[in-house]
Amino acid sequence: MENLYIKGGRELSGSLEVVTAKNALLPILAGCIISNSNVIIHKVARFSDVIYMTKILESLGCGIKWDGDTLVIDTSCANSYVVKDEFTKKVRSSIFMLGPLISRFGRARVAYPGGCNIGNRPIDLHIKGLKALNVKIEERHGYIYCDGRNMKSGEVHLDFPSVGATENIMMASVMLKGTTTIYNSAREPEIVDLQDFLNSMGCKVSGAGTSTIVINGVDSTLGSEYTPIKDRIVAGTYMIACAMCGGDICLNGANKEHNQALITKLNQTGVRIKCRGDTIEVVSKTRPKSISIIDTQPYPGFPTDLQNQILAMQTISRGTSLVVENLFESRFKIVNELTRMGASVTIKDRMAIINGVSKLYGASVVASDLRGGAGLVLAGLVAEGYTTIEDVYHIDRGYLSIEEDLCKLGAEIKRCNSET
Ligand code: EPZ
Repeated sequence: MENLYIKGGRELSGSLEVVTAKNALLPILAGCIISNSNVIIHKVARFSDVIYMTKILESLGCGIKWDGDTLVIDTSCANSYVVKDEFTKKVRSSIFMLGPLISRFGRARVAYPGGCNIGNRPIDLHIKGLKALNVKIEERHGYIYCDGRNMKSGEVHLDFPSVGATENIMMASVMLKGTTTIYNSAREPEIVDLQDFLNSMGCKVSGAGTSTIVINGVDSTLGSEYTPIKDRIVAGTYMIACAMCGGDICLNGANKEHNQALITKLNQTGVRIKCRGDTIEVVSKTRPKSISIIDTQPYPGFPTDLQNQILAMQTISRGTSLVVENLFESRFKIVNELTRMGASVTIKDRMAIINGVSKLYGASVVASDLRGGAGLVLAGLVAEGYTTIEDVYHIDRGYLSIEEDLCKLGAEIKRCNSET
């Protein structure tokens, strides 16, 4: 197994190119199978979740070819609508295959993705939305069977603006005769990117980014050549890193609007954020002031995917902070590990109360999920002494090489094999 090994105490400086967004790439890769010709995706970051998604497409008969960071997907030979549990166990986002497979084949059979370390991750909103369009659904032997051969366009009212449910219903209805409307849809930038990608294939989707998305069904789709948006969570993670360590960094490709909620919070801490075009500069000269309350919400609210990282920041900020996690019931696993580094955090249900301390101490800690692992890296960057982080594979799901990125910004961090 691999560990990260960090010597804390370095300020950060320099600039970094932000990679394409994991949470845009995953639904876009799933959506490729809607077309029965070549789809070319540029600047594909090879996150482990992205690699698994390409393996799912290959298992369905698609041709996959890499040319540097350009991915060519030949879907003309796709010949199956069954996603096996060996894949759904590895990458939850395989559930995004339901909609595209229904559009392509009229049917889909996807193994139940199950929960993960941040919560039980139900898919009832996906199921309810598809049923509202007359998809026949059975759940048995750990598989979800969808029969969409008698689907009808219509209206879907989501009880909660679920990102995945919005994306699945969008992709299930792009070739459905008539007009389908999704009310209370998720508004994330990755939904807008999926709309733009689907439209680049000849679909007719509008309204993404608002709470109402309208899909006018088309009879056929084309191939496409597309470059997804940048990863706002990776950018936000490094913005917080600089706020914690002190220094001056520039993130190229970072989008101000996509990170507005974080920028608003960081502006309360004494950190200076300068946005010019698609570059965000972060300047941090003193120990940050605490943020009184951070309340995770669907976009454009504060993103749950930056909650662990900003929580780590609050552990060394001046004052007391309250973090409320409204989306996932088990997204405070990082707290036990931060406590071992000297943090003072009290958990009560969905709330974490943090009393900022002047110093964290390096320790040997274990990552239990993707964003919790990233939060531990940030804590290690400011801790006195050395921090070892085990189970780094969690972090690799959403960061191309977090240690290379942070080394470019002046951190002392390296990856080592735990057996050596
Ligand atoms: C997407 O997950 C992201 N993943 C998550 O990022 C992100 O945290 C989440 O959206 C919220 O922004 C991808 O895009 C691949 P949801 P998703 O459906 O679609 C409940 C990361 O770290 N819900 O918007 O699974 C659910 O329990 C990952 O990159 C239902 O109740 O999120 C949660 O409380 C983690 N029933 C809330 O909605 C459903 O059918 C948000 O879930 C679906 C969801």
